Amino acid sequence: MIKGKPFVKWAGGKRQIIDKLKKYIPDEFDTYYEPFVGGGALLFELSPKKAVINDSNKELMNVYECIKDEKKFEAMCRELNHHETEHSEEYYYKIRNLDRDKKKFNKLIDYKRAARTIYLNKACFNGLYRVNSKNEFNVPFGKKNKVNTYEGQNLGIICGYLNYNDVKLLSVDFEEAVKDAKKGDFIYFDPPYDSDTSIFNSYTENGFGKEEQKRLAKVFKELSDRGCYVMLSNHNTTLVNELYKNFNIHVIEAKRNINSNGKKRGKVEEVIITNFENKRGFEEEI
Ligand SMILES: C[S@@+](CC[C@H](N)C(=O)[O-])C[C@H]1O[C@@H](n2cnc3c(N)ncnc32)[C@H](O)[C@@H]1O
Repeated sequence: MIKGKPFVKWAGGKRQIIDKLKKYIPDEFDTYYEPFVGGGALLFELSPKKAVINDSNKELMNVYECIKDEKKFEAMCRELNHHETEHSEEYYYKIRNLDRDKKKFNKLIDYKRAARTIYLNKACFNGLYRVNSKNEFNVPFGKKNKVNTYEGQNLGIICGYLNYNDVKLLSVDFEEAVKDAKKGDFIYFDPPYDSDTSIFNSYTENGFGKEEQKRLAKVFKELSDRGCYVMLSNHNTTLVNELYKNFNIHVIEAKRNINSNGKKRGKVEEVIITNFENKRGFEEEI
C-alpha cells in the first residue's frame, strides 16, 4: 500500500519522530482516534482502516472534508492549478486577504476555501498556520518563485485512503472527539506543546494553556480507565511530568521543525507517554 504524507506543513508536525512514535503504538487495536490531527503524520503512516480524526481548526478540517468528497476534490484540484499558475507576491496577498471580509469569506464555497488553505500553507513564510485575534491568516509571503501544492501523487493517495476506509472527520474540542472511544481503541493525543517558559501557546484563535493541559490529562486517565490504549506526545516539561507521573513516560530527542527564529531551531526533549507497554517500546528502553 502506498501511504500518504501530510498535505500541509504544520506546527508540531510529527514526521521527524515518526519512527520513534511507531515503536510505542499498541500491537493491535480497534478504532484509531487522533483528536489533534494537524497534518496527520501518524494517521497517514498507520493508515488505519477505522479512524476518527479531529482538529478544532475548521479551515484545516474543511480540507480533509474536501479531499474525502470526490467531486469537491476534483474542484479543489482545479483551484490549486489556478493558484499555481497565478502565483506571485501580489496574488498571495490577494488570496490571503480574502478572510478580511468575513461576510464574503463565510460565503466562499468549501472547495475554494480548502484550496486557499493548502496554497497559503505552501506559499507563506516557513509554512506555518497563524491567525491574529480576528482569526485572519497573517503569515507573510514566503518568497518562493514557484509552489508545488500537490506534491506528486500525495493528494490523490490521501483521497483514496479517506474514501476506501472508515474514516470519520470531526472539528470539535478534543474531549468531545473521544467521547465514543471504547475498550481496545487506540487514542493518540498530540496537543499544542506545553512550555516551561511561556504560559500561553496559540495555534488557532483559542490558546491551549496550562488549564487545557490539565483537562487533557483528566481525559487521558478516563480513557485509560475505560480500557483504551492511550498515547500522548508533548515537551518534557515540569507540568507534563507531574500530570502523567502514574503512566509510562519515555523521553526522546526531537528536532524543532518550525520556529521563526532560526537560532532557536535545534534539539529539544519530547516525551511519549503511554498507559501500556508493548514489546518494541520495551526493547528500545533497555
Ligand atoms: C501539535 S498540533 C498537531 C500536530 C500533528 N500531530 C501533526 O503531525 O501535524 C496540535 C493541533 O491541535 C489543535 N487544537 C488546539 N486546541 C484544540 C482543542 N481544544 N481540541 C482539538 N484540537 C485542538 C490545533 O489546531 C493543532 O492543529
